[in-house]
Amino acid sequence: MYLCLCKGITESDVREAGRMGCVTPHQLKTRFSLTDENCCGRCAKHIQEFVELATSQAPTRCPAST
Ligand code: FES
Repeated sequence: MYLCLCKGITESDVREAGRMGCVTPHQLKTRFSLTDENCCGRCAKHIQEFVELATSQAPTRCPAST
């Protein structure tokens, strides 16, 4: 499913970004160039949806060794 029609960003793209450690609103906006002046801004209003998808794929930390 497309999350951004202007740039053709899909849920899969956002999950991949999450796997690469890109999970904050700022990181995701930068990664997908959602701050460009040619962006309509519609998807950036829903950046939390991007964050939730990316976070679900983010690498988990290794448990601390004891
Ligand atoms: S819908 Fe993403 S920039 Fe327009």
